[in-house]
Amino acid sequence: MSPEPTPPNPTSCGAALRPRRILALNASHRGPRGYTHFLLDLLLQGAREQGAHTELVDLARLEITPCRACEACHTPKRRLRCLMEERDDVAGLFQRMRRADLIVYGTPVYVFGVASRLKTLWERMYGVCDVRRLCLTRSGLIFHHVDSLCTKPLAAVICCDSLEAAIPANAVHHFRTYARFMDAPLAGILVRNGAALAGHGDPQAVRRFPALESVYRAYRRAGAELALRGRISRRTRARANREIVPLPAFALLKRLRPFKPRILERARAFLSQEEQP
Ligand SMILES: Cc1cc2nc3c(=O)[nH]c(=O)nc-3n(C[C@H](O)[C@H](O)[C@H](O)COP(=O)(O)O)c2cc1C
Repeated sequence: MSPEPTPPNPTSCGAALRPRRILALNASHRGPRGYTHFLLDLLLQGAREQGAHTELVDLARLEITPCRACEACHTPKRRLRCLMEERDDVAGLFQRMRRADLIVYGTPVYVFGVASRLKTLWERMYGVCDVRRLCLTRSGLIFHHVDSLCTKPLAAVICCDSLEAAIPANAVHHFRTYARFMDAPLAGILVRNGAALAGHGDPQAVRRFPALESVYRAYRRAGAELALRGRISRRTRARANREIVPLPAFALLKRLRPFKPRILERARAFLSQEEQP
């Protein structure tokens, strides 16, 4: 079978258009009590200030049955309808995703990758894509037909406790690969490390780590930029992703092995202080 070019995506807002409806999906098991929700909320505040309609959905509150690879959705009888679609919340969520102009995926790092709830949701997209119809993506990759909900412009918010750059790297890579194969314009990826140091959104932490204030401002700015231009500027990404540890050149120092025992010692002392009543 020769590959067909992917049809243009009528729902895509492109980089230059203003996405009016921004949907954020939070994949943390902790749902609204978690740091990912807190960060997404800041971002959406900024978007609303620029007139966007926003919605934040905690996947932990929905029933999302894992794909069982039964392939019923790819039979002539069911035609891209999953056997579970009347029994869980995925069909309804897919409708909300189709109505959105831009989707912000929020995920904590769980064991070096995106959270399982997000992966489970993505796997259910297999049931609405015609995997037997080959297509060429805009970037020239051979892939298959995908539903319009997959091609929505997307941004990502990734957070983790670690300060090591390798920890969120798989999640970042995953979003980039997703965007390329799905022909989904990538509007920006924000990575918040040191989540435990940041008190997972505890307001007291801003006193200990004043850089958090500018990080949180950058999250609101990122939301405003998404609403105005459909993408997050490099400058805002750099501000949102900055190190919060108050040491000059920490981003560089933390890569040097002799410096690691000192970081470890400080982090242990900080976390044991946190644990005291
Ligand atoms: C199951 C699980 C696995 C985790 N794996 C990692 C990890 O590999 N690296 C890391 O830095 N943090 C890891 N964490 C910590 C979370 O990424 C971090 O606490 C994040 O801020 C949680 O987001 P939330 O508050 O929105 O739930 C893990 C947490 C859980 C519950």
